[in-house]
Amino acid sequence: MARRLPPLTRTARRHVIVIAHRGASAEAPENTKAAILRALALHVDMIEVDVQLTRDRRLVIFHDECLERTTSGRGRLARWRWRDLARLDGGSWWSPRFTGERILLASQALRLVRPPCRLNLELKRASRAAALVEAMVRCLRWTRRLRRVLVSSFDPALLRRLHAQAPRVATAVLCDRNPGRAIAQAARLGCVAVHLHKTLVSAPVVRRAREAGLRVHVWTVDRAQEAGRLARMGVDGVFTNVPDRIRRVVG
Ligand code: G3P
Ligand code: MG
Repeated sequence: MARRLPPLTRTARRHVIVIAHRGASAEAPENTKAAILRALALHVDMIEVDVQLTRDRRLVIFHDECLERTTSGRGRLARWRWRDLARLDGGSWWSPRFTGERILLASQALRLVRPPCRLNLELKRASRAAALVEAMVRCLRWTRRLRRVLVSSFDPALLRRLHAQAPRVATAVLCDRNPGRAIAQAARLGCVAVHLHKTLVSAPVVRRAREAGLRVHVWTVDRAQEAGRLARMGVDGVFTNVPDRIRRVVG
């Protein structure tokens, strides 16, 4: 039986939670402190960020495999040491207003996000799976956030490793195809949720997830009408780049 994530807000009322995708990423550069602080200011229920491992095994918040799109650096992030990554500019690609915004360590992101807001750490696929999971567990223990986060991944093997080392961490399987298989995997792994791409969601899929004891969180939903339709279908949460717009519909 899948474990339940403890209540995500102080109220007992069940509602569709709003999850800021890469922070409030329509208002600030994704996965940065600025995007996280903006999402907190908008009172989202949860903030999603992407997590990767540096060459020297530090956990950083970053989406792409390579640095070019969102920083002043070049090449694959996994080949960089943290002390060099820390000097890069991760904000001016977005706007001169954000010049000087830095790549964050996962531990820094964990400390920024305070209750009742939760952090969803998405573990990106990695060739160094064992090192990635070890670093994640160490970081959650060190920051005392083991029971306060939701860790997700497209790679069920990463979640299996995580469960073996830290069974109390809430997890979710991410899915961009074959929701039936993802639901079965998530239930088998003892996850609390499945994170489905919006094109995969239908009433029968939501029902199937529920029957497996899983929450359904849907990515990435920026149109109000779409959020309303998903809420009526009974999903538990939506990831969005525009939390203020979506909260008006489902919050
Ligand atoms: O976790 C949901 C979503 O973030 C998955 O896709 O590419 O935006 O990390 P991506
Ligand atoms: Mg992500």
